Amino acid sequence: MALLSVSDINVYYGAIHAIKGVSFEVNEGEVVTLIGANGAGKSTTLKTISGLLHPKTGGVEFQEKSLLGVKPHKIVEMGLAHVPEGRRVFLQMSVEENLEMGAYTRPGSEVDPGLEKVYAQFPRLKERRKQTAGTLSGGEQQMLAMGRALMSSPRLLMLDEPSMGLAPILVDQIFDIIQSLHKAGTTILLVEQNAQMALSVADRGYVLETGKIVTSGTGAELLNDESVKKAYLGG
Ligand SMILES: Nc1ncnc2c1ncn2[C@@H]1O[C@H](COP(=O)(O)OP(=O)(O)O)[C@@H](O)[C@H]1O
Ligand SMILES: [Mg+2]
Repeated sequence: MALLSVSDINVYYGAIHAIKGVSFEVNEGEVVTLIGANGAGKSTTLKTISGLLHPKTGGVEFQEKSLLGVKPHKIVEMGLAHVPEGRRVFLQMSVEENLEMGAYTRPGSEVDPGLEKVYAQFPRLKERRKQTAGTLSGGEQQMLAMGRALMSSPRLLMLDEPSMGLAPILVDQIFDIIQSLHKAGTTILLVEQNAQMALSVADRGYVLETGKIVTSGTGAELLNDESVKKAYLGG
C-alpha cells in the first residue's frame, strides 16, 4: 500500500481547469519527483495534497486515510509537511525560533531533540541559530524552510522547487541534503523545474504537462528518455 496515493484528481481555479485527471503514488522511503515547466500544475498538485485547494473530483489518500475535507493543520499533524515555493520563513524571527515554530504539532519534549537532528543535518543553521532569518542568503533560507518542515517529524516531506533562484553551488548543496535525507529514510515528494537534478536524486518521476501526467518511470529511465531529454534536459 502506497504512503500517498493521488487518484484521478481534477482541480479548477474558477473556469481554469489546472489539473486534469492526475494520478500517482509515493511509497514509504522513496524520493518521487514531479517535473514540469512553469505553469504545468506542480504547485497546484502539492497544494491540493496539503488541503489548501480542493479537487472537484478524485481522491487523495495518505496512510490509507482520505485527506479530502481535512483541514491543512490536521494534515500536518497526520505527518505531511509542505515546504512551499519561495520558502516562506519568518524573516524577523531567529533561525532557532523559526525551527521551533515547525514543531508546533509535537510535544514540547521533542523540540530539543528535533533541533539537534536538524542542526546535525544543516550545520550552517546551527552556526546561525541566533541570527534573524531575514539576514540569511537564499540558500540558507531554503535550508531553514526544509529544517522547519522536518521539525514536525513528517512521514512525507513535500518540497516545491527548492532550487528555484539559487546559484548553482547552492543548488548542489540543496540536492546533497535531499540525498542525505533520502539515505536516512525520509520519504520525499519533490517538485522541480530543474529536471536534471531532480531525476538524478529521485527513485521515480512523473512528467506533468499542462495539468496532465504524460510520462513516468524511474529517475534513470526518464533521464534517458528521448522526449524528456529534448523537452527538459536541453537536448
Ligand atoms: N490562484 C490562481 N488563480 C488562477 N489560476 C491559477 C492560480 N494559480 C495557478 N493558476 C494556473 O494554474 C496552472 C498551474 O499553475 P501552478 O500549479 O502554479 O504551476 P507550476 O507550479 O507547475 O508552475 C497555470 O496555468 C496557472 O496559471
Ligand atoms: Mg509552482
